[in-house]
Amino acid sequence: MTREDILSKYPDITLTDHPFIQHKLTSLRDKTTSTREFRMLVEELGTLIGYEATRDLDTVEVEIETPLEKAMCPVLKGKKLCVVTIMRAGNGLAEGVLKLSPSARVGHVGLYRDPETKQPVEYYLKMPHSVNERTIIVVDPMLATGNSAIMAIDKMKEMGATDIRFICLFAAPEGIEAFKEAHPDTAMYIGAIDRGLDEKAYIRPGVGDAGDRIYGTQ
Ligand code: URA
Repeated sequence: MTREDILSKYPDITLTDHPFIQHKLTSLRDKTTSTREFRMLVEELGTLIGYEATRDLDTVEVEIETPLEKAMCPVLKGKKLCVVTIMRAGNGLAEGVLKLSPSARVGHVGLYRDPETKQPVEYYLKMPHSVNERTIIVVDPMLATGNSAIMAIDKMKEMGATDIRFICLFAAPEGIEAFKEAHPDTAMYIGAIDRGLDEKAYIRPGVGDAGDRIYGTQ
């Protein structure tokens, strides 16, 4: 499936095609981009895409006093936010989203890929209380096969979450299809839809291993 096919099949996907976002994604793709710069860019993109993913949060009018007069002005309604990182590459993106809402809670999901079955296996799960009352933003820079994101969102739903959004920087059409099949009700905010997966399930053209590039472990 091409990018256009995906977008017409799933009109609820937000492809964040703002020129600043596209520029920064291109810098991530560049193999000469340093670890320091890569990490900074991932964080900045977390803030920019996080901004789109929270556009519909409810506000409520409160009375405040400016130096000149009283006024009714909007503030966030206070539904609790929780940013959930799929470790380890999600951590950098989560930091960027947290810039928008520093008091948000943070959940961690640790998954590794079983070399035999190629399926994700959970090794860590730590969430704040009252997951069912929160807006949950799950973040992972790369949506490749979609298996990890699907499993992370399965976990959120098992814990009672109903308002879940997913942010990634790069997605393969195969991953989006699998994700939407499993979780048609979860809003997706995507930086770029790439051509597809290679035989090792890397996104092409992609950025290579996002975790290695964020942490300089390649
Ligand atoms: N995870 C990555 O870090 N990169 C890919 O291309 C796919 C999955």
